[in-house]
Amino acid sequence: MHISTTIWMLVACLGTVIKASDVLEVNLVFPRNETYAPNDTFPVVFAFKNSERATHLNPSISYSLRDEDGDKVYNLWHELRWVNWTDQETYFAHRYTNAFSTEGRWRVLWTVDWNSCNVESPEYGNEVISNTTTKSTMFTTSNSAPKLDPVAATANKTCTGQPGVAINVTDKTKFISSAHWEGGEYTNHTCAVVAASPIPSTNPCRTQIDKTTLASMEASQLARYCDLHFNKPAECPDKKSAAQPLAVAGLSCLLCLTGALGFFLALHY
Ligand SMILES: *[C@@H]1O[C@H](CO)[C@@H](O)[C@H](O)[C@H]1NC(C)=O
Ligand SMILES: *[C@@H]1O[C@H](CO)[C@@H](O)[C@H](O)[C@H]1NC(C)=O
Ligand SMILES: *[C@@H]1O[C@H](CO)[C@@H](O)[C@H](O)[C@H]1NC(C)=O
Ligand SMILES: *[C@@H]1O[C@H](CO)[C@@H](O)[C@H](O)[C@H]1NC(C)=O
Ligand SMILES: *[C@@H]1O[C@H](CO)[C@@H](O)[C@H](O)[C@H]1NC(C)=O
Ligand SMILES: *[C@@H]1O[C@H](CO)[C@@H](O)[C@H](O)[C@H]1NC(C)=O
Ligand SMILES: *[C@@H]1O[C@H](CO)[C@@H](O)[C@H](O)[C@H]1NC(C)=O
Repeated sequence: MHISTTIWMLVACLGTVIKASDVLEVNLVFPRNETYAPNDTFPVVFAFKNSERATHLNPSISYSLRDEDGDKVYNLWHELRWVNWTDQETYFAHRYTNAFSTEGRWRVLWTVDWNSCNVESPEYGNEVISNTTTKSTMFTTSNSAPKLDPVAATANKTCTGQPGVAINVTDKTKFISSAHWEGGEYTNHTCAVVAASPIPSTNPCRTQIDKTTLASMEASQLARYCDLHFNKPAECPDKKSAAQPLAVAGLSCLLCLTGALGFFLALHY
């Protein structure tokens, strides 16, 4: 009796741990609405919490880094088509930039786009709903702030001025014809049904950038850097993993494009 109760409690406990939340959260986890030391290798980090819920949403992120007291604007985006959303509980989309290497007041203006099933669609009607939302976070760089440390900065689970996006994704999915689907590679022409209101709340400050995450971000930053530069630093690996060329192709493309248009004033890698 005692043992079975214990087992039951263990099962119940595991159950709550294993059951993924319905809610996909997309948050800007760094920078926060705070003051940091300027740095020419400054990470901008988005997190998809309960990332498995993004599988059938075809999400994308585009953002701009803005100088609040000047006219500099850097436009960036994340190619997410090849992301394996079931790989990890939290997927981090990040980029390092030298846009914040001086003192200033800055804004990260970011937009999340996603698609979901249109449950009310008539046969041969528009099967997919497109949704978009834009958020903004302001932060400051000052030489008097302590050295940039994303791990320390995100260790605080309380923060203010950090908006996020929460999407209540149900288990219900629908197969849709390819004509209406532009989604990622692993989505099988399947859309997910998003629950109607109420819109769940987000908690951007709960997602921490720990040392392991930081190390993996630095490793992929180095890989990108090595692929983009002819004068490779000594740390550059000799061999590239099979997955890198795709991501880098997208980035190089963006660099060409922004460069050609004359907007390319900062390095982001
Ligand atoms: C930039 O930040 C990194 C940590 O992310 C730190 O190691 C480096 O020293 C900083 N650079 C400057 C110039 O402060
Ligand atoms: C995605 O990752 C999961 C867990 O690591 C793995 O089992 C699965 O095969 C991967 N899917 C694809 C399409 O690579
Ligand atoms: C888009 O998402 C928002 C927030 O989840 C929701 O309020 C709105 O109804 C959605 N729009 C459509 C067309 O589904
Ligand atoms: C936080 O955001 C508010 C409003 O966007 C802004 O006025 C304030 O300066 C920001 N704080 C820092 C430290 O940048
Ligand atoms: C965490 O951030 C909150 C809000 O900005 C602040 O009041 C609190 O002092 C911080 N805690 C620590 C340990 O830095
Ligand atoms: C995609 O569809 C194929 C064939 O219909 C099926 O074998 C496979 O399990 C599906 N994959 C996912 C991720 O739903
Ligand atoms: C998500 O939607 C489901 C189905 O409508 C609902 O039961 C659940 O309470 C919602 N979750 C949140 C956090 O709003």
